[in-house]
Amino acid sequence: MINKDVEKILVSEQEILEIVKSISAQITEDYKGRDSKLLLLGILKGSVVFMGDLMKHIALPLEIDFMKVSSYGSGTKTSGNVNIVLDIHRNDLSNIDILIVEDIVDSGKTLSYLCEYLTLKGAKSVKTVTLLDKPSRREVDFVPDYTGKQIPDEFVIGYGLDYDEKYRALPYVGILKREVYSN
Ligand code: PRP
Repeated sequence: MINKDVEKILVSEQEILEIVKSISAQITEDYKGRDSKLLLLGILKGSVVFMGDLMKHIALPLEIDFMKVSSYGSGTKTSGNVNIVLDIHRNDLSNIDILIVEDIVDSGKTLSYLCEYLTLKGAKSVKTVTLLDKPSRREVDFVPDYTGKQIPDEFVIGYGLDYDEKYRALPYVGILKREVYSN
């Protein structure tokens, strides 16, 4: 049943499952036969649901880890300053292919910063996968390596995405009713 605060379902459970299967198959194909270790790196908190589904469908040995970031100050996503709240606790990344897992790419600043950070830390490779992408919101030049679905600039919740920490557990991605956040 659709949540009362949801205006419309944008990506259904069925569509999400198809996206997960399709992206997992591509990743499996792209990373198979390597000597290096595949590490799925989820960016907390929004990525956890997608991460959980993705890791079940990639038909390769893999490890998981998490990072958490925030922007400096309030509402300063535009400043481009990304603050690492929880770092990756691995010393030697030289034999690790990192695949950063995100729920959504907006300005692109989080992922472009993290790609640079992890590359400088010595990862063998760094790539990115996102369920959703809002290309119209981009402020830096960034293109994810794997994208589930490009969406318009709507307020989306569910499947990991929140408004005020709510709705993350919804099994689909929905558009939040304007009245919920405009009051
Ligand atoms: C969201 C999302 C990305 C980031 C994308 O996280 O999960 O990490 O914003 O935005 P950007 O492309 O403009 O950098 P958020 O800060 O909402 O935290 P959360 O995942 O804990 O909800």
